[in-house]
Amino acid sequence: MSSTGDYEAVRKDIVAQLKKPDYDDGSAGPVFVRLAWHASGTYDVASDTGGSNGAGMRYEAEGGDPANAGLQHGRAFLEPVKAAHPWITYSDLWTLAGVTAIAEMGGPSIPWKPGRTDLVDDSKVPPRGRLPDGAQGADHLRFIFYRMGFNDQEIVALSGGHNLGRTHADRSGFSGPWVNNPTRFSNQFFKLLLRLTWTKKTMPNGVEQFVYNDPDAEADDEQLMMLPTDIALIHDPSFRSWVEKYAEDKDLFFDHFSKVFAKLIELGVRRDESGAVVNTDNVKGGYISAPQKSPVATGPAKKPRARL
Ligand code: HEM
Repeated sequence: MSSTGDYEAVRKDIVAQLKKPDYDDGSAGPVFVRLAWHASGTYDVASDTGGSNGAGMRYEAEGGDPANAGLQHGRAFLEPVKAAHPWITYSDLWTLAGVTAIAEMGGPSIPWKPGRTDLVDDSKVPPRGRLPDGAQGADHLRFIFYRMGFNDQEIVALSGGHNLGRTHADRSGFSGPWVNNPTRFSNQFFKLLLRLTWTKKTMPNGVEQFVYNDPDAEADDEQLMMLPTDIALIHDPSFRSWVEKYAEDKDLFFDHFSKVFAKLIELGVRRDESGAVVNTDNVKGGYISAPQKSPVATGPAKKPRARL
């Protein structure tokens, strides 16, 4: 057990959890990044609700949202870290795991500040339906991300998260990775969006996604994929100008991604001039760390999708 506030010790133990030879592409990194993003992406500027403070996914109301299917694996991988450092809040642990994974996978270093508090019951869990739906287009992306307080440039930079990981038929209904090396952070996602020809394909489960038909593919090669929302980034002129910049200039993308991810994981966190978190829950109880949850990965079944 580390001493309270020793975030470097926590960071080291997160790194120790990344290598997972029997899981997906051999790394828990991508699912940690998605966990940090979904923990934060429920924020609504107008009502100042949702966001990374609270770790509401510990409750069925949020953890059981089909939009969060699969994230139970990320949460379960972090339970040994929570057990070793019981003083840290889940909301700090999940966001720290996201930025740690990005840096370890070769991405930019992202400023991270502690102090988030865990909700003590599910009364402040944000309503479902605030996270984006990959089956939609540019209007939907703007509706969802403007609500969080992001602009077009930030939407495209954030979408670069799809340099990592993969989609799973038993989680979102979509299947396959976006890039050939999904455990290495880069600007490849933007390059492939522009350089390859993306064809709409109806998958065996009825879900429509875009795929690259590689003429040189071997029989058992996995097809690269894009979500309809990813493809919207090259059809919408305002989004496309940023895709082009990020495809061309990796340093610019890394710089913008670092800034926008830092903003994302601060959504819903209110701080005073000294940086101390002043959300009402914190004022009432100080830095409250919720007790450990089960180390077993339990979560929602796959997202139901109508057959087309
Ligand atoms: C722009 C709107 C977005 C949509 C519609 C979207 C949708 C999705 C979907 C459908 C999946 C597949 C889930 C599964 O089947 O396991 C996924 C995975 C992923 N997303 Fe996004 N996402 C969006 C934005 C983001 C952002 C902002 C980030 C982070 C900056 C991100 C990071 C990831 C990562 C890392 C994965 C892979 C997870 C894994 O391998 O388990 N996404 N996303």
